[in-house]
Amino acid sequence: MNWSDTGVIESRFLQTCNIRADEFKLEPFVMVIFGGRGDLSKRKLLPAIYHLFKEKELVDFAVLGFGAPPADDGQYREIMKESLRTFDGEAYEEKIWEEFGKHLFFLTGVFEEEKDYRKLREKIDSIGITATGGVKNVIYYLAVPPREAPVIVEKLRKFNLSRATYQAKIIVEKPFGHDLQSARELNRILDDAFDENQIYRIDHYLGKDPVQNIIFFRFSNAIFEEIWNRRYIDNVQITVAEEIGIDTRGAFYESAGVVRDIVQNHVMQLFGLVAMEPPIAFKADFIREEKLKILRSIRPMNEEYIREDTVRGQYGPGWIRGERVPGYREEEKVFPRSNTPTFFAGKFYVDNLRWAGVPFYIRTGKRLARRVTEICLQLKQLPLRLFGRTCDVAEPDILILTIQPDEKIALRFGVKYPYSENQIYPVSMVFSYKEVFQTKIHPPYERLLMDCMKGDLTLFVREDAVEEMWAIVDPILSQWENNTPADFPNYKAGEWGPPQARLLLERENRRWLTE
Ligand code: BG6
Repeated sequence: MNWSDTGVIESRFLQTCNIRADEFKLEPFVMVIFGGRGDLSKRKLLPAIYHLFKEKELVDFAVLGFGAPPADDGQYREIMKESLRTFDGEAYEEKIWEEFGKHLFFLTGVFEEEKDYRKLREKIDSIGITATGGVKNVIYYLAVPPREAPVIVEKLRKFNLSRATYQAKIIVEKPFGHDLQSARELNRILDDAFDENQIYRIDHYLGKDPVQNIIFFRFSNAIFEEIWNRRYIDNVQITVAEEIGIDTRGAFYESAGVVRDIVQNHVMQLFGLVAMEPPIAFKADFIREEKLKILRSIRPMNEEYIREDTVRGQYGPGWIRGERVPGYREEEKVFPRSNTPTFFAGKFYVDNLRWAGVPFYIRTGKRLARRVTEICLQLKQLPLRLFGRTCDVAEPDILILTIQPDEKIALRFGVKYPYSENQIYPVSMVFSYKEVFQTKIHPPYERLLMDCMKGDLTLFVREDAVEEMWAIVDPILSQWENNTPADFPNYKAGEWGPPQARLLLERENRRWLTE
């Protein structure tokens, strides 16, 4: 790296103009969906693939569902047509579906059954989609419960379906393991069958445009990049609040709880993006490297730390949008005295030069007051109070990145209130995605599937990061699981979690900025 005459950095990777971005090309492919008749396939995957087809992004491809209950190609097409009409009725168009349906296939099979993997190979070959140079691109999508993943991967390896026969990729859904140990084990099994650059660990939060924008926003605007550190930031807050409960997912949620479901993955990814150093260029591994460093710099929690600085909660019955909703313990397939947490709040530190001493407050939960995912950076107060008549604490300056549902970026600051005597009044400058771009935000699966089809790993989670994220939450999980909570349920549906979550900040003269 050297300095040019203009004082601009020149590097092998980074230029100020004519940026050499990696070019990814879409080759013909077959996508095998294990669990092709399951909920994820019906609600998310097939609608996303259908959209891509409708927008003419996909031409030469096939989707092959694998699993049970039995169906032939024709029946599968009918089933998927009905589910598209149910879950994405607006997008459904008879004429387009007629064409799209021809790309769908199904193979009835049992994941443990070896002979079914022979049939799978025959079926893939019979579909006959071949790319340049006679290569066959096959993408395996594990849309199955986590316990099924290892056996499928092992069989793919055993039957030479992962490396030798095809140019293969594999997409692995969350939850990725149940704890650090099982995640390591799953990584080991995957490593035996695939190379790391064939493995696409999906976290749908990374497919959200406003989440991707965090990097663009931070590293392309001098005004923000300069203040993004301990000298100017008082604290950072990440809220992932949901209004919904657990719906029909009681059995899954009982074994997961909020930490495994949201904190270990979505929240940690947001954390990494907000806190990371600039990558040396916009390339998958440079970005993943920087995120990993942050995860490694998060201060490990011991028993006392967890007791003092984390809060767990479980919702009881309450009211949401004027409707009475049941408590967690009354939900379908939930143990009536369940101690599964549905709420998490905690204070974290990133022990590096940029963030030393800056608290990161994290909060997430089900059945909270409203659905909002937001990152707030509160700026430090100026030392001198020139304005204002009273000694009230002035409103802090805040930068707010709203990821959903109303995607925007807002900067809150103080101005003089008209006519009054030198009063400061908080106002906002707002950038709204919908207003500026006049477009709806695309569902994350479309972007992520497309990236995988093209071979771009940037928005997927690397092996070492998955393990690091588990290493952060594992101590919390084991301490919570070894100590029965005395006060569950401790918040009403429709509230912002238990009172301790508020106190976590109030005892430090701060407050949650997302309300
Ligand atoms: C999933 C969790 O990963 O994310 C769900 O399993 C949660 O429990 C969902 O509801 C939230 O996603 P989004 O995109 O609606 O914020």
